[in-house]
Amino acid sequence: MSQPLRLGIAGLGTVGVGVVKIVRQRANLLAARTGRAIEIVAVSARSRDKDRGVALSGYAWEDDPVALARRPDVDVFVELMGGAEGPAKDATEAAIAAGKDVVTANKAMLALHGQELAEAAEEAGRVIRFEAAVAGGIPVVKALTEGMAGNEVTRVMGVMNGTCNYILTRMEDAGLPYDEIFAEAEALGYLEADPNLDVGGIDAGHKLALLAAIAYGTRVDFPSVELEGIQKLSIADIRSAADLGYRIKLLGVAQMTGRGLEQRMSPCLVPADSPLGQLQGGTNMVVLEGDAVGQIVLRGAGAGEGPTASAVMSDIVEIGRGSRITTFGQPARGLERARPARASAPAPYYLRMLLTDKPGAMAKVATVLGEAGISINRMRQMRHESNNAPVVFVTHKTSRDSLDTALQGFDATGVVQGDPVAIRIEAV
Ligand code: HSE
Repeated sequence: MSQPLRLGIAGLGTVGVGVVKIVRQRANLLAARTGRAIEIVAVSARSRDKDRGVALSGYAWEDDPVALARRPDVDVFVELMGGAEGPAKDATEAAIAAGKDVVTANKAMLALHGQELAEAAEEAGRVIRFEAAVAGGIPVVKALTEGMAGNEVTRVMGVMNGTCNYILTRMEDAGLPYDEIFAEAEALGYLEADPNLDVGGIDAGHKLALLAAIAYGTRVDFPSVELEGIQKLSIADIRSAADLGYRIKLLGVAQMTGRGLEQRMSPCLVPADSPLGQLQGGTNMVVLEGDAVGQIVLRGAGAGEGPTASAVMSDIVEIGRGSRITTFGQPARGLERARPARASAPAPYYLRMLLTDKPGAMAKVATVLGEAGISINRMRQMRHESNNAPVVFVTHKTSRDSLDTALQGFDATGVVQGDPVAIRIEAV
């Protein structure tokens, strides 16, 4: 057998510990599959004394992840610290400069600095692999980079933040408002240190931007992802959507259109009986569509020790086998800057509003929709005791511009109370 592949692991949180366990417990299996032994030589974390439930005494300890990244006895620098800037980025840059390959789970760092890091790695003849950064244990980076290499990718979709999916499915099941379920998720430790990364759609947006770069051969462009979180979703919308046969998901969609690259991470209605509509709790799902293969649906754990460590190990084994796949599946210098789509593709929309219950009110709203060029597909007025009637419309396909025109026009009718809610319905 060849020389062992020697790892330096920076970050011993849930994922780092999971990787240490797999390397220790599956040594023979890994060696057989890789064709060489995989060994940890050194580790680094913030606190040396913490009991992590795994024996670390056989590994050299480095307080400074940059020093770990530069160690001459490390072949692969495994970055599991997180954070777009600071130690994670410094150590990744140091590792590349010192001639190491890099395996990382850091979606934020790659979504914001992936292009420069990939270029640096390729100039140095090194690779950066990041399977664990997108949808945890689901091997979606490999599916897209390798499995779909012969396809023109027509659309990438996904529910890629388990915390948001947990909150939305719990709101529906328990019939409780967002704030209460958010507090429950927080107590269970499901939220990132900055919860806005989860509920604001940022974490999932980072993941979508990375998949879009691979799918369309474009430079990763997180700032162009149209982001909307789940904070404003109400139990009334979840219930009305369910009544109409839909579920609301924080859905990411990336597609190349005649108007440019569309990247959206926002609440959408999807049919309740579709695979995405059926997705419960903290699970992730990624849907990949290619011209030759059609639709592929991948479902699995998007976070947690075992699933994320499984993805990290797949990259380590890949490097150990001698594979040299570039970060985004094409040479980084050749990646084009995508023109961001100025507007999303037309779609049907769900519209909910409170209407003063008096003669002619519905006609006024229908007129505003008609004048904006929007055709009503379905309509429902709920039972109500007060003088305000909850009304829900499903429109035929319309542009976001037309929808915005209608939303502005409702005010002047004098019969629409408060702000109507508009949510896109995605064909899945
Ligand atoms: N916080 C993420 C989630 C996992 O809830 O899915 C890490 O990306």
